[in-house]
Amino acid sequence: MNIFIDSSSSDDYRRGQLYQGAIFVYPACASAMKLCQLAKDIIGEAFGRVEPLQVQDVMPAERCAEILSVLKPKFIHHPKAKEYIRGLLAELGCDLEKTYFDVPRLRTAFPGDYLKSGIAYAFHPHRDTWYSAPFCQINWWMPVYPVNPENCMAIHPRYWSEPIRNGSRGYNYHKWNLESRQNAAQHIKIDTRIQPKPEEPVELEPQFRLICEPGATYQFSAAQLHSTVPNTSGLTRYSIDFRTVHLEDVWARTGAPNVDSACTGTTMGDYLKGTDFPHLPPDAIALYQDGTECVYTPGA
Ligand SMILES: [Fe+2]
Repeated sequence: MNIFIDSSSSDDYRRGQLYQGAIFVYPACASAMKLCQLAKDIIGEAFGRVEPLQVQDVMPAERCAEILSVLKPKFIHHPKAKEYIRGLLAELGCDLEKTYFDVPRLRTAFPGDYLKSGIAYAFHPHRDTWYSAPFCQINWWMPVYPVNPENCMAIHPRYWSEPIRNGSRGYNYHKWNLESRQNAAQHIKIDTRIQPKPEEPVELEPQFRLICEPGATYQFSAAQLHSTVPNTSGLTRYSIDFRTVHLEDVWARTGAPNVDSACTGTTMGDYLKGTDFPHLPPDAIALYQDGTECVYTPGA
């Protein structure tokens, strides 16, 4: 596996490498720092005098889930967030006319068993392609506050080319949106929502954990197996992630190889153009539709 640090390569070369399992890491740029600051402002406002990294020490998990259920959508839909992502894409060499992104998520990983379901879901090992992501999707991840090896994210490279028996055949993105997404904040201790998981033991080693500074980003293919590291650090982790696709790769139906994903539906309708945020052309989205989008659309 190749790991590129602050590479000056073109976006075309980068995507080609990402589709072969490479990781690209970049130091914080101005737009990324603005995105982090926006997250910090919203987090600070929501928790008031409580130190954001130590929420779990002073607040019941139920109260924290309530706060997160307001805080997270506020960040996701903040107009400045889209603006800063556009800046970040431009700073890192993406062609805004051809790069589409989805709205950024603000994630939290709390120590121990404090809160790891629903609104603060601790992700088991998975590929985003088990969740109806296209194989040309690229994931971007960045810490908001400093992270350490005990509260970051892990990538499990041996499964890049090795299939895992998994539950993706039962997952449909449109069905999920209709039935499960809205209920995230209700799942405080146990998450009963059905998600695609490995159905055989997974060897988590070798794994690597990229520890980068707040605002630094790394990119990896949606087909990489990755997971939330069990948080034993005593400190909450806050991170931002979002996903991109490139129009030419969408048209060409190119991307990472599919070793084991069998889900239906597509997230292709979610991505917004880097310039002024319209969705992908309907004909491009249609290439990835399988009819289930109609089955699970209210009133359709
Ligand atoms: Fe993921």
